[in-house]
Amino acid sequence: MKKVFIKSYGCQMNVYDAERMADVLAPQGYVETATADNADLVILNTCHIREKAAEKVYSELGRLRLLKSERAAEGKATSVVVAGCVAQAEGAEITRRAPVVDLVVGPQSYHRLPALLARSGNGAKVVDTEFPAEDKFDHLPAAPRAVTKARGVSAFLTVQEGCDKFCTFCVVPYTRGAEVSRPFAKILAEAERLADAGVREITLIGQNVNAYHGEGPDGSAWTLGRLLERLSTVPGIARLRYTTSHPRDMDAALIAAHRDLPTLMPYLHLPVQSGSDRILAAMNRQHTGDDYRRIIEATRAARPDIALSSDFIVGFPGESDADFADTMRLVREIGFASAYSFKYSPRPGTPAAEHEAQVPEMVKAERLAELQAALDASRRAFNQATVGIVTDVLVERHGRHDGQLAGKSPYLQAVQFDGQDAAIGDIVAVEIMEAGPNSLFGRPLAGATVRDGVAAL
Ligand code: SAH
Ligand code: SF4
Ligand code: F3S
Repeated sequence: MKKVFIKSYGCQMNVYDAERMADVLAPQGYVETATADNADLVILNTCHIREKAAEKVYSELGRLRLLKSERAAEGKATSVVVAGCVAQAEGAEITRRAPVVDLVVGPQSYHRLPALLARSGNGAKVVDTEFPAEDKFDHLPAAPRAVTKARGVSAFLTVQEGCDKFCTFCVVPYTRGAEVSRPFAKILAEAERLADAGVREITLIGQNVNAYHGEGPDGSAWTLGRLLERLSTVPGIARLRYTTSHPRDMDAALIAAHRDLPTLMPYLHLPVQSGSDRILAAMNRQHTGDDYRRIIEATRAARPDIALSSDFIVGFPGESDADFADTMRLVREIGFASAYSFKYSPRPGTPAAEHEAQVPEMVKAERLAELQAALDASRRAFNQATVGIVTDVLVERHGRHDGQLAGKSPYLQAVQFDGQDAAIGDIVAVEIMEAGPNSLFGRPLAGATVRDGVAAL
């Protein structure tokens, strides 16, 4: 038995990919371990989206250099692999800057991991950042049922990868490559396998998940709306989610799916980045602030209780006080249930990084603080508004103290409650009693546990 430690940074796709890497290594005798200290193989599954993300990788590699020499002194070999988006973007530069690294592997080559590992080590450096013609998904093995089971009741499933949108700030089109959708049949088979292992909630993921246009059973291209509709009939799957969407691809069928499918959770993560039309145009987002407002309006009309979430960038080159004020106005108008916000970080090779009008760090920091205060207030208000209502909770794990259970509401809020006889994977009707800063506290309604379907509320 050899031990592999995989550390993932960045988005949900890296979480999914980490599992696929573990699955492809399992037949080689690798079992996963929770720390680098006792690992024969360490994989850093990296993110390149902002500067800090890449810097973290290099400091982690510094620590691994020490670990590798300590282990070598005990006669143990340690292979160090850099995978993910930094691997794709920097390639051989990584082995030059950090000689501790044996293998650099980009996201489209994970199915080749065993072969690449066999070629690396003992001083041999291997770099694979090709975008191969073959479909990696066809070559990645499925995890055994017990392994999937151990990963929990909520799972990610990649349906689309890559991006053709080329927002001027973003590295993803360069690190993940062109947009590719997986065929419907493959996705259905994976969903059924997950359900069979006890998964109750599937989040369909993709860099541009609502641009999904995979081959349907009739040979035509299916939209995400159709895909969700079909997946909602998979026995055992009580909840469906999808992320991350682009406003440009929020079509009528997807909005209608929010009205028609009880298994599609009332939660939409729809990044807007900015509320200023001038900045949105400079970002190449291809929509205006009002376009975004109209999409939200239509989605709320279809599903009035939908919770909204978004991403924001402050200090994009050329952003004025007036542009930022437009962002703040949009935030106040929409009322987001949650959101992520970032200072603009110039990324090598992207058009915006070359822009002359970079915003000073101080201004970025001030704007971020102001935006985050508003988003935080909005999130608290949303959570507070759920106090007193009865909501379904999918039980994911045991809580901190005896008899306590923890799970998620349909709105992706963390909920804790003292749980009668409910088990992990059950859906329990819970009355929300109190909203804390990070999670809600509730009490289960007597006799409202549902094991094989959605609680009838
Ligand atoms: N595909 C998604 C976003 C993926 S990246 C979309 O189109 O919205 C996740 C988030 O990181 C983005 O929404 C954006 O808010 C942020 N981000 C991306 N590049 C960035 C950069 N250069 N600086 C700061 N934040 C960035
Ligand atoms: Fe990046 Fe834009 Fe593509 Fe999202 S849509 S991944 S922000 S280029
Ligand atoms: Fe990061 Fe790559 Fe995801 S850059 S956000 S890990 S697609």
